[in-house]
Amino acid sequence: MNDYFHFRQGQLCADEVPLADIAQRFGTPCYVYSRRALEDGCRQFAQAFAEREHLVCYAVKANSNLAILHLFARLGAGFDIVSGGELERVLAAGGAAGKVVFSGVGKTEAEMRLALVSGILCFNVESEAELERLNRVAGEMGEVAPVSLRVNPDVDARTHPYISTGLKQNKFGVAYAEAFDLYRKAAAMPHLRVTGMDCHIGSQLTEVSPFIAAAEKVLALAERLAAAGIVLEHLDLGGGLGIRYDDETPPAIAEYASALLQTLHGRSEKLIVEPGRVLVGNAGVLLTRIEYLKHGEEKNFAIVDAAMNDLMRPALYDAYHQILPVQQRAVAAQQYEVVGPVCETGDFLGHARTLAVAAGDVLAVMSSGAYGMSMSSNYNTRPRAAEVMVDGSAVQLVRERESVRQLFAGEHVFA
Ligand code: LLP
Repeated sequence: MNDYFHFRQGQLCADEVPLADIAQRFGTPCYVYSRRALEDGCRQFAQAFAEREHLVCYAVKANSNLAILHLFARLGAGFDIVSGGELERVLAAGGAAGKVVFSGVGKTEAEMRLALVSGILCFNVESEAELERLNRVAGEMGEVAPVSLRVNPDVDARTHPYISTGLKQNKFGVAYAEAFDLYRKAAAMPHLRVTGMDCHIGSQLTEVSPFIAAAEKVLALAERLAAAGIVLEHLDLGGGLGIRYDDETPPAIAEYASALLQTLHGRSEKLIVEPGRVLVGNAGVLLTRIEYLKHGEEKNFAIVDAAMNDLMRPALYDAYHQILPVQQRAVAAQQYEVVGPVCETGDFLGHARTLAVAAGDVLAVMSSGAYGMSMSSNYNTRPRAAEVMVDGSAVQLVRERESVRQLFAGEHVFA
């Protein structure tokens, strides 16, 4: 719970709207986002970095709903994308191509062309082969591509191994030791313009020190490059700031920013950051209704209508999300496995949760705004959930629930 999702007279509300009313009106499963929470996060970044030239490039993968992208674009944000699809979303939502950085290890030629035609701010290049391809594609188009190399600083982010990206053994970025030579090579390529350097060491970081360690390595390399005549316009320090799901105590945005600003003190490059989770994670919840309570021999199950296809994080990372009934009621609390209807033992939303609930009750799976809907699938031919945004007492459907027809509309029998 936080300022945006809170209990009022026994009812869990998003701003002023009881979540039970939203479940009733739009059905479940349903993601609910607080517009105030989204705006506040964006503003906190702007304030925290105000003292220097900077650009907050929201990592679209965390939640790519057009309403969220539109909101962030209006607040001046740029975007970190990892596919042509994400670029199309950003543009459709009114985002400026000139504020887009393009990350990812596998950019296709078609994606490069789209990004070049659109006029993005920078390609975050992750390998020598990609550099060569980009130079060729830009040449064919008569363009010059702005590039930054994503360096792998070999810093331990001390987070879940699946979301740790800045270690030597990870697939991301170019090896720190090789980056200098690669920069020289890039600088000599006719259809590339070296503009920056970037790094991203992982996600859900709960300490400041790995960010600083990575930033220091980036700065050291930028200095060596400057001495060799390659002067960078921007430094992109990636995303990764964690949020509170349970009892984590991640640094506040202001604390994270002030540590970065201190490290960058005296440098003239523009600063770019790529936050995802911290902007949207605690701005969203997933509503789900209990279909059945099942009392087994060893465990009790609360079988709900949301599943791993709707929110994959528990199944994939064993991630913890707080689960709260949206209406408090006077029944005896029991311990439940909160599970979905999908045919996998790994299909759970929470283990051993003490809940005072009855069948038909609505639960809120908290902190689901990041990597919830964006990682959802149609497994078991389950239509994707609806998404709703709340602001004060106003409620807006921002994505319709999928229909089953939509799911197989593009399929054909072998005639
Ligand atoms: N920049 C790059 C290049 C990234 O790869 C990522 C996330 C971000 C920025 C944003 O990171 P954030 O601020 O959200 O931590 N599905 C996982 C998280 C995967 C993160 C992938 N990269 C999860 O649900 O925890």
